[in-house]
Amino acid sequence: MICIRRCRSGSGLSGRAGGVSGERPAAACGILAVAAIVSVLATGSARAEDTGAAIAANGAPAGVPACASCHGAQGEGNAAAGFPRLAGLSAPYIQAQLTAFASGRRDNPVMMPVAKMLNADQAGAVAAYYAHLPGPALPKAIPAATSPGAILALDGRWSDGIPACVACHGPDGIGVGTAFPPLAGQPAGYLKAQLEAWQQDKRPPGPLGLMGAVAKRLTPADVADVTHWFATLTGGAGK
Ligand code: HEC
Ligand code: HEC
Repeated sequence: MICIRRCRSGSGLSGRAGGVSGERPAAACGILAVAAIVSVLATGSARAEDTGAAIAANGAPAGVPACASCHGAQGEGNAAAGFPRLAGLSAPYIQAQLTAFASGRRDNPVMMPVAKMLNADQAGAVAAYYAHLPGPALPKAIPAATSPGAILALDGRWSDGIPACVACHGPDGIGVGTAFPPLAGQPAGYLKAQLEAWQQDKRPPGPLGLMGAVAKRLTPADVADVTHWFATLTGGAGK
């Protein structure tokens, strides 16, 4: 703070360029000020992550359940139960989903009440926490695209206006940036439920309506094939 004030008073605007002796040069002040802001922001996000970690492990007052009880101790998900992995998903994506559950636009009887109980700070904190947990290992080399699910995922079916899933979801479905979530290794039942939710307008269509449009072009057989294929891409030992 002191630094910023001195920089201003020493700036050329006042015609006192050169400034009072003992002042730092403006450029150095700028760097220090930026460093201070960055460190404040970093501390803020570290605190948010700590809060998020506490909510994930223990829940919060007013009945928020521990996320880990369903999504796993490391946010790895639970394939048998169909609970998705949260580790490594982007913070903006997680927050957008919590908002959609809270408003009921993403219609799920389990997550809607959980998301409604979280206030904005808590939602931001858990999103920051899960975004920083490592996702699973990248998928191993992909076998030749001979199964119908693999063909759809890797090539799409342009005669029906279906682009390759990997065009948006990244090579082998590992996810891209903040908007395109990973599909690799998510439980097949979970992925299937999402595609069906879009087909039935039970999940908001997401950025630019991209996924709603894709999902509505898939047949039930496509949904079964492609979700099974992505679910097997975990990169874990023995898979
Ligand atoms: C009782 C089990 C349960 C608990 C507790 C729970 N979840 Fe969930 N969560 C689910 C289920 C089931 C889904 C899949 C919903 C669907 O199919 O739309 C889900 C989905 C999600 C998604 C969407 C993931 C995606 O890829 O779109 C997010 C984000 C999420 N949960 C965050 C949380 C957070 C944060 C907490 C803790 C505050 C939490 N969940 C607690 C069961 C649970
Ligand atoms: C044009 C880009 C695009 C293409 C192609 C695409 N997706 Fe998506 N997909 C998205 C976006 C964007 C989202 C995130 C939607 C949101 O924010 O709600 C998404 C989300 C999903 C989800 C939800 C993941 C989760 O964690 O809840 C599934 C499942 C999915 N896509 C499957 C597919 C499949 C299968 C294909 C190929 C048949 C495909 N996608 C092709 C853009 C695309």
